[in-house]
Amino acid sequence: MPENTAPPAPKPDLVPGLAGIPAAESAISFIDGNQGLLAYRGHPIESLSEKSNFEETAWLLLYGKLPSRAELDSFSATLAEMRQLPERMIEILRALPGSGHPMDALQASMASFGMFSRHQNFRDTEYSDEAIMRILGAMPVLVAAFDRIRGGKDVIEPDPSLGTAANFLWMLTGHKPSELEARILDVALILHADHTMNASTFAARVVASTEADPYTVVSSAIGALTGPLHGGANERVLEQLREIGEADSVEAWVDGQVTAKRKIMGFGHRVYKVKDPRADILQSLANNLFESHGHTPIYDTAVNLEDEVVKRLGDKGIHPNVDFYSGIVYSKLSIPIDLFTPIFAIARTAGWLAHWREQMASNRIFRPTQIYSGEHEQRYVPIESR
Ligand code: COA
Repeated sequence: MPENTAPPAPKPDLVPGLAGIPAAESAISFIDGNQGLLAYRGHPIESLSEKSNFEETAWLLLYGKLPSRAELDSFSATLAEMRQLPERMIEILRALPGSGHPMDALQASMASFGMFSRHQNFRDTEYSDEAIMRILGAMPVLVAAFDRIRGGKDVIEPDPSLGTAANFLWMLTGHKPSELEARILDVALILHADHTMNASTFAARVVASTEADPYTVVSSAIGALTGPLHGGANERVLEQLREIGEADSVEAWVDGQVTAKRKIMGFGHRVYKVKDPRADILQSLANNLFESHGHTPIYDTAVNLEDEVVKRLGDKGIHPNVDFYSGIVYSKLSIPIDLFTPIFAIARTAGWLAHWREQMASNRIFRPTQIYSGEHEQRYVPIESR
């Protein structure tokens, strides 16, 4: 090295997937992956899933504290009003191919929903609160309406006397759900409402940091949630259980997966090294549902699969995650498999919007760096000579 030449600066280490690298400071949710703890604004999900409902939990995530009775009543009533979508939104859903995935319909329709309310200042609290309620109100309606339209059925009018979960089941099936069915979906929504800096929330914050509007933020997060390593895993879990079939086929099936080094859907988590606490709650909800609606053989297969996978891979920190039992619960509620991820999105919208607000309150645009590993000083060769 010639004298006076400074040594090259050490290259920063690349951390694939940014594992363990903080991307933001956040007061919204907290996970202790070794203890199996998840809390929203300091409230453990066990107590919220026992005592709260989705609307109250959404408020808690968004505004940082439990609402008063008057605040909750007004929030719930406004959400119910916001379920009345412009007729042209339903026309947009009708124009989409019914053979497409409902997540794509949800992403496209949420992006276009913003066009019905774009020219306003979302830094203004009045507008941002209205946008939050419009988006939270619209999400379940878009999912249910798309499902009705693709099935050649009439779109059902929302029922303002019902909460988010019960109204979704009503608009999807045309039957008023039992108290137990509505409560189970309500709890599933609570459990999926936020989960620290996961891929879709990170996507939401990156898009939020550009000062894009909240409709664009949510539609970008919906896109990130579609992948099978994130929200899409819950659909794969049910397909996987159907592929395995009987409970006594589990051992051989797991052998095949482990030998082929294939991932088992519904297991493993970047943060939890013990059983995901949401999986425990969903498992007990599944049990309640079976008591009232009759047993499902697929549940025995699931329980055997959990035992077998934990026996083989538990010491690597591979345990069931939230997606493992959510699919079983949703299928027992007769919800089509490809709506599992949209339901996850309905719930997670509360978290995405809370992160949007938090990002806006102290924003700096995301602009990470990279480690360049390409060529330098290439000579341009004319096309005839290549
Ligand atoms: N089945 C079998 N092995 C798994 C596994 C699974 N579901 N998840 C992780 N592993 C193994 C990996 O093969 C790897 O083993 P190795 O060290 O011998 O190579 C090790 O555990 C670490 O896996 P890695 O993919 O690096 O973990 P991650 O933290 O990057 O990934 C997930 C986390 C969630 C993406 C991953 O566990 C996964 O793909 N799970 C299945 C999909 C799923 O259920 N997603 C929903 C998440 S809520």
